[in-house]
Amino acid sequence: MWLMVLGVVTALLVAWSTFSMIRYSRRKRVFSQACLRPPEPLVTDKKLRDEVLKKGFRIDRVPDNLDAIVIGSGIGGLSAAAVLAKAGKRVVVLEQHDQAGGCTHSFENQGFEFDVGIHYLGQLHDNSLFRVALDQISEGQIQFNKMEQHFDTLILGQGEGRRDYHILSGKTGMMESLKKQFPDDKQALDDYFKHMKKAARRINLLAGLKMIPMWLVHFLVRTGLLGRISSVFRMAVTNHTEKMDTLTKNKDLTALSAYLFYGVPPKESSFLMNTLLLQHYKRGAYYPIGGASEIAFHIIPVIRKAGGAVLVRAPVQRILLNEKGSAYGVTVRKGQEDVEVFAPVVISNAGIFNTFEKFLPPEVHAQPDIQALLGGLKHGMGNFLVFVGLDGTKEELGITSMNYWMYKHNDLDTLMESYRSLTREEVAGNIPMMFIHFPSTKDPTSSTRHPGKSCMTILSLAKFEWFEDWKDTKMNKRGSDYEDLKMSMANELLEWALCIFPQLRDKVVFMEAATPLTNMHYLGAPRGEWYGAEHNLERFSPELVARTRPTTPVKGLYLTGQDVFCNGMAGALHGGVLCASTVLDRILYIDLLALKKQLKKQAVEKANNLPKKLP
Ligand SMILES: Cc1cc2nc3c(=O)[nH]c(=O)nc-3n(C[C@H](O)[C@H](O)[C@H](O)COP(=O)(O)OP(=O)(O)OC[C@H]3O[C@@H](n4cnc5c(N)ncnc54)[C@H](O)[C@@H]3O)c2cc1C
Ligand SMILES: *[C@@H]1O[C@H](CO)[C@@H](O)[C@H](O)[C@H]1NC(C)=O
Repeated sequence: MWLMVLGVVTALLVAWSTFSMIRYSRRKRVFSQACLRPPEPLVTDKKLRDEVLKKGFRIDRVPDNLDAIVIGSGIGGLSAAAVLAKAGKRVVVLEQHDQAGGCTHSFENQGFEFDVGIHYLGQLHDNSLFRVALDQISEGQIQFNKMEQHFDTLILGQGEGRRDYHILSGKTGMMESLKKQFPDDKQALDDYFKHMKKAARRINLLAGLKMIPMWLVHFLVRTGLLGRISSVFRMAVTNHTEKMDTLTKNKDLTALSAYLFYGVPPKESSFLMNTLLLQHYKRGAYYPIGGASEIAFHIIPVIRKAGGAVLVRAPVQRILLNEKGSAYGVTVRKGQEDVEVFAPVVISNAGIFNTFEKFLPPEVHAQPDIQALLGGLKHGMGNFLVFVGLDGTKEELGITSMNYWMYKHNDLDTLMESYRSLTREEVAGNIPMMFIHFPSTKDPTSSTRHPGKSCMTILSLAKFEWFEDWKDTKMNKRGSDYEDLKMSMANELLEWALCIFPQLRDKVVFMEAATPLTNMHYLGAPRGEWYGAEHNLERFSPELVARTRPTTPVKGLYLTGQDVFCNGMAGALHGGVLCASTVLDRILYIDLLALKKQLKKQAVEKANNLPKKLP
């Protein structure tokens, strides 16, 4: 009986994908090698950059006959818009901040340049899916610098008890170096990496859940067939601590397996998610040459080419719905007025919570399917950043591109839980973890663009609740209590950093800090989240994976970005490709994978020095 059901379901899926493929193959390709150009020289002229990144919203700058409106210019919004543009669609991207890019924007203060949400990226080796997709939406203009093989150092404990672990990239290098550091846990590492490989190979099945009809998802879950299709679905809902307990007794290795913090204690997080995070950097860690703002700078022209525009200082207030309940435009606040912009398709990159709770009327927000979606999700935790300007070159200061992750002890579950439960009064003096990196060392153009200057960014987690009392105050006018709390946290983190890098003590010439309220202001994050909706275990249940999809219960309204796939620049970009696939009603991944295969083949042929085959 089960076999028969399985047979029928498989047959349906095969028929459906064949049908999609045939339908799809008749249409013009969106992705091709033809758009790729050799990278042009870095544009450093501020005026030229601002013309692209800081074009202000004015109604006469909104193109006529729009095919789509995108709310928000994070990588999720820009990638969806650029893919649509490549399919010939005219799109306007509306951004509330005064520059485009969302988490990929960078800012300058007193001659120091800081990135905000791009500290390092993975999966950018030649012809990786992420790289191929990024090249397509930027015409091959974004370049990356590969960091040293030893890209991360994890420090557990402090003082006498401090242990340093080295994380190296490399197809086999990562595992080999870990085996040297954990000689008694070779088997555990073999197993861990096996799981990691499976996660990487089968993550497409999770993406698939977002494309098949909800009734089919329910059917596959209720009948237990989903688990038979692949064990990756079980891995997704297994908590990290539980799984690691079966692999090793070494608490340092357990901590290392979840060292890339994102706000959820390992025991409440998905084993799949954590393995994917480490997997992300397995083939190397990278940083954009010219800084993070290069990303938006090179995607925007592709949107413009099709007649579209990316406009900033365009805070969207509402999504307009017609009498049938379909989206047909948005309103944008301009001065004291609300200006209307119309298009048959509205795509939101502003996050699930803003989209349903802020942009739509309460009666729509109250719809059962929207409630079912929102009810399963939580606002993610906020972050705390310290931006430090240093006087000197990287050589003078003895700093490198390596990142540091630090925890006061190796029990990350207890550490995270106790930190989370602190009250505002208890926070200062009790921050148990942080991340440090030196962005200026990662970008080879930094030394010419900002000669004699270096930067350090320190990152930790923070709860919105600690700062909530000041949420209605204005930037730079939040009052001395807020400043005191912020600066005491910043100084605590800086002092900790200076224990690791004592040579920098006299070189600090600039310091600024950012709280969850900063994310609220610059990223429109409703509760200062740094990664959108919380990436907890529930989020990886098949139903919720399927529900967090580009299609929404509101006709004409779609979602993109980290909330429809997963956090990180790569996660948000996949959100954009999924969204564009949905809007265009075609599985663009087929096209993308075909191109990837073609490029890979060419690279192999080139390497073998074989004569190129004519098409
Ligand atoms: C501190 C920090 C460090 C990070 N480090 C890394 C890293 O090293 N590597 C990595 O891969 N990822 C990192 N990330 C995560 C990564 O940057 C994000 O997951 C990803 O860029 C999110 O993209 P997005 O498009 O979904 O959202 P966002 O980039 O947040 O874009 C949403 C956009 O919508 C706009 N918006 C909101 N409301 C409105 C409105 N009403 N009207 C108009 N526009 C609106 C916002 O202003 C914003 O521009 C980091 C994030 C942070 C915060
Ligand atoms: C993790 O999984 C184990 C085993 O199923 C369970 O006992 C534990 O309660 C889970 N932890 C959390 C926080 O869900």
